[in-house]
Amino acid sequence: MTMLKKLKLAHKFTLFLSLVFIASIIIGGIILSQVSYHQAEGQVAYNAELLMKMMNSVKSYTNTEVRPLLDPLVNKQPKFIPQTIATYSARKIFESISNQSEYQDYLYKDAVLNPTNPEDKANELETELINQFNQEFSEDPNNIQDKYDFTTTETGESFYVARPIIITDQTCLKCHGKPEAAPKSIIASYGKENGFGWELNKPIGVQIIYVPSEQIFQKGRDLSSLTIGIFIVMFTIAIILINLLIKGIVIDKIRPMSRLAQKIRNDELSPDPMTEPDIQKLEKVAKNGDELGHLARIFEQMANAIYERKQKFAEQIEELTLKSQESNRASDKMGKIAYFKSLQKKAKSIRDKVDDSDKTK
Ligand code: HEC
Repeated sequence: MTMLKKLKLAHKFTLFLSLVFIASIIIGGIILSQVSYHQAEGQVAYNAELLMKMMNSVKSYTNTEVRPLLDPLVNKQPKFIPQTIATYSARKIFESISNQSEYQDYLYKDAVLNPTNPEDKANELETELINQFNQEFSEDPNNIQDKYDFTTTETGESFYVARPIIITDQTCLKCHGKPEAAPKSIIASYGKENGFGWELNKPIGVQIIYVPSEQIFQKGRDLSSLTIGIFIVMFTIAIILINLLIKGIVIDKIRPMSRLAQKIRNDELSPDPMTEPDIQKLEKVAKNGDELGHLARIFEQMANAIYERKQKFAEQIEELTLKSQESNRASDKMGKIAYFKSLQKKAKSIRDKVDDSDKTK
């Protein structure tokens, strides 16, 4: 506290403003990073949701437009035509999206516990999600909601959205029920081990999409840092400007007053007010209509009063000296007269003595 009292006015302002600015930058920074985090989270979720919708449209297009056209061919070909399968077209289309460098870390998968295509085999996280969906489905089949969260994949931090795959259509079981009932071309292409024995009305897999979040969060952080950087620069400029302003408006105007007060105390005022530099400076300040101008005017009046008094005092002293000189001279005259008189007396007494001795002779 005493340290604070010792500080100069400009330094006090700097300190106070810096504290206010640092506090607001910290609070603003926290709020900003929270906001940008939520915004990034929203953007990641939005991207994932959009891609999921797109993939489902592709799937429904394949099921309604492509499959009916190709179905007659399926049984005639020795090898299965995978282009008729919704999952296949979704995977192919997603591949062409993720071939673009911008989307290379995006991932889409119809992950199933027992898939026809081994590429669709559920990993650890997906298996856990399928189990969770099964659990929830057994509790309340009408209340199943998408799951989303952050996870780490080979490509880094990602955000996923997962939706259960539930077989509701009996016709699906033609190829995913018993292997004996499946078209021969399927067995020829995929074997009879995988992708069979699926149950109706039960989550058998998850449709999952992974969106890399690191990049988007990094963008959010960069934006926050840039904003905070701009704030810091602006605050620094504001502190410098306020300092200059305080110096120009307050300190430079108070200085001649305090110097003048010091000179009055030490009796160091120059004899003539016209040659006293601080009074000249004071005159300039006194022209201002603000509080300092008012103070300067009072100071000016005070200094003038002191000069006047000094002048009077000097005159009085001069008068007194003159008087005392005069009185000195007067007493001098009186002394001379007395001396003369005593001399006369002496002479007279000598004369008398002489006269007496003359008489006795
Ligand atoms: C004509 C046979 C056939 C029918 C009918 C069929 N599928 Fe498939 N399904 C396949 C084949 C073949 C694959 C593997 C495609 C590939 O190579 O990716 C597959 C893959 C899948 C996958 C991806 C997981 C995996 O097993 O590789 C899902 C999910 C799937 N089918 C769901 C369904 C649903 C739901 C239906 C009913 C609307 C259905 N399928 C109807 C043949 C069929």
